Amino acid sequence: MVALLSLALLPLALARPSASPAFEVTNLYTFEPSGRDNVSVYRVAFNVTDPSDGGATSCETTWPYAQWDTGYPHEFLANCTDKAWSFKLDDYQDVWDFVLDVKHVSKKKNGKKIKRFAKGTVDAEDILQCTHAGSGFSICRQREGVAFPLDVYKEVKV
Ligand SMILES: *[C@@H]1O[C@H](CO)[C@@H](O)[C@H](O)[C@H]1NC(C)=O
Ligand SMILES: *[C@@H]1O[C@H](CO)[C@@H](O)[C@H](O)[C@H]1NC(C)=O
Ligand SMILES: *[C@@H]1O[C@H](CO)[C@@H](O)[C@H](O)[C@H]1NC(C)=O
Repeated sequence: MVALLSLALLPLALARPSASPAFEVTNLYTFEPSGRDNVSVYRVAFNVTDPSDGGATSCETTWPYAQWDTGYPHEFLANCTDKAWSFKLDDYQDVWDFVLDVKHVSKKKNGKKIKRFAKGTVDAEDILQCTHAGSGFSICRQREGVAFPLDVYKEVKV
């Protein structure tokens, strides 16, 4: 009985969310080019805040049409206006189907730093509103009035 009980409780314990509040993403914008020119690139851009310290930044990545399925950032890319932030895309399928994974190095008042990692799933049902143009490009924007929280899944003191 005791063994059964602890087994049943184990998944709950592992799934316990971090004590830190979720990051908040606003202005998420993604673009898929039609490939008809050699100029237009894939683009993912967003603003993000970390309520733990009030930090905020805006981030953007682009990659060429020819690298449609490989050019997205696989490792944390410091392409945010504030270099304390970086991000990558996980499980990437398309610019309306991926996991946004954001890292923020936050300075504490005592001079120590804490790294927070947070992620959330981007989709075209709940988060994004997409327009697929007849000529082949797609533009997606975060739905009006829809919050996009990224749950903090790891914290490392540095
Ligand atoms: C597109 O770019 C590639 C690689 O730079 C080049 O080989 C090709 O000729 C270009 N095509 C057009 C239509 O400009
Ligand atoms: C997004 O970030 C940019 C650059 O930091 C800023 O100018 C803009 O006001 C932000 N937008 C919102 C809605 O917070
Ligand atoms: C970084 O951002 C700039 C503009 O903010 C963009 O031109 C550049 O392509 C980006 N680099 C990557 C690797 O996404």
